[in-house]
Amino acid sequence: MARESWASRVGFILAAVGSAVGLGNVWRFPWMTAEYGGSAFLAVYLCIVLLVGVPGLLAEFVIGRRSKRNPAGALARLAPGTKSWGYVGLFGVITALVLLSFYSVVGGWILRYFAGSFTGSYFAEPSAYFGRISFGAEAAAFQVVFLALTALVVLGGVRGGIEKATKVMMPIIAVLLAVLAGWAVTQPGAGMGLSFYLNFDPTPIQNDPIGMLRAAAGQALFTLSLGVGTMITYASYLGEDNSLAFDGSVISVLNTGVGVLAGLVVFPLLFAFQGGLTEVTAGGESGAIFMGVAGAFREMPYGEVIAVGFFGAILFAALSSSISMLEIPVAYLVDEQGVSRRSATVGLTGLVLVTGAICAFNPGIFDFVASTLVDLMLTAGLAGFLVFTGWVLGKDALSEYDSGAGRVARALGTPWLWSVRTILPLFLLVTLAVNLYALL
Ligand code: PFF
Ligand code: NA
Repeated sequence: MARESWASRVGFILAAVGSAVGLGNVWRFPWMTAEYGGSAFLAVYLCIVLLVGVPGLLAEFVIGRRSKRNPAGALARLAPGTKSWGYVGLFGVITALVLLSFYSVVGGWILRYFAGSFTGSYFAEPSAYFGRISFGAEAAAFQVVFLALTALVVLGGVRGGIEKATKVMMPIIAVLLAVLAGWAVTQPGAGMGLSFYLNFDPTPIQNDPIGMLRAAAGQALFTLSLGVGTMITYASYLGEDNSLAFDGSVISVLNTGVGVLAGLVVFPLLFAFQGGLTEVTAGGESGAIFMGVAGAFREMPYGEVIAVGFFGAILFAALSSSISMLEIPVAYLVDEQGVSRRSATVGLTGLVLVTGAICAFNPGIFDFVASTLVDLMLTAGLAGFLVFTGWVLGKDALSEYDSGAGRVARALGTPWLWSVRTILPLFLLVTLAVNLYALL
């Protein structure tokens, strides 16, 4: 049977944007921004997205399109004579399963808040509500539903499932968030939220430069779905030669745009209706955004309607990302082990039901996975992909990059390869070392 592929270039771009735009933009990003001091974090994060994220994205695209394989198969096949590089790809496959285990917990929360928005059931006591639903049997139950929805899309295959679903979901997310942001920034009191978010204040960088750098680097990789092999896998379904550099830039711009837009919803809401980053939100805890936003919905007219739009958008964003996580191990089993898509999807979902339940029942494990382990794994993974692209593929990477690229993109090819060989892996390895050191 022929390997699956995207029906169109737009389908590929939207699926990749779907993977990138997710809880990272609307939940993890405001959480990190609040914890690391607002605008300063935004600035550092944007720099890293541009200087490390975009080149890293292109490296994954090059590996994927050249090999037409899942990450493990891709690295093994492109490095003839040695099996070892395949393990770097396999590490990505495992990372995807780890990611999905915690991500689906948050996906379950979103599902729960979405359902509760119709009646406003969580409005009355936001903190108590979040405390009740966030971990334990109820959390696991909603996580199961979220995983089932994810599996349903992946079962449909590359064209019939992922491409179709993301083509519907992405425009809806953009419209909903744009409308919400337009409304939020015009609320009385929103201005303080905007200035926390947008007025550059370097003090937080001076106070804890290393911590800021670690968090911003981790978030930059997370937001673009890098270091796992999602983008390798999605690019492996490309047929014709599109400009990887152009598509990668579009994807990064849209992802950043949605992230900034989400910030324009969340921060004005918190400041206009909750008096800012209160004790609840300032501590930088994972549930802070939920409590803050829930409290804001209670205070505003037609809060239910706005809440449905808000959590509906986030639910779509979360699903279009979780399907990209599940697709990596599915592609691995299909490509390398000859398993059918159906069995692979069912089997892997069963596995994540178990590993995911561990996260849903243990807040400590969840926190460690969501904020520490994931940063480590993504950083290590992307460093591996970059070294592979720069040193194993070398000139071949450049010709893959060039194929389909326009004049501007071609001119940037050589500096791209140079940075992929040297400065970028170095940056990631230093980040990794600092992350490990912080664990001691
Ligand atoms: N980029 C997604 C987000 O911002 O929510 C998260 C993500 C998806 C990370 C897929 C990694 C991945 F492979
Ligand atoms: Na993202």
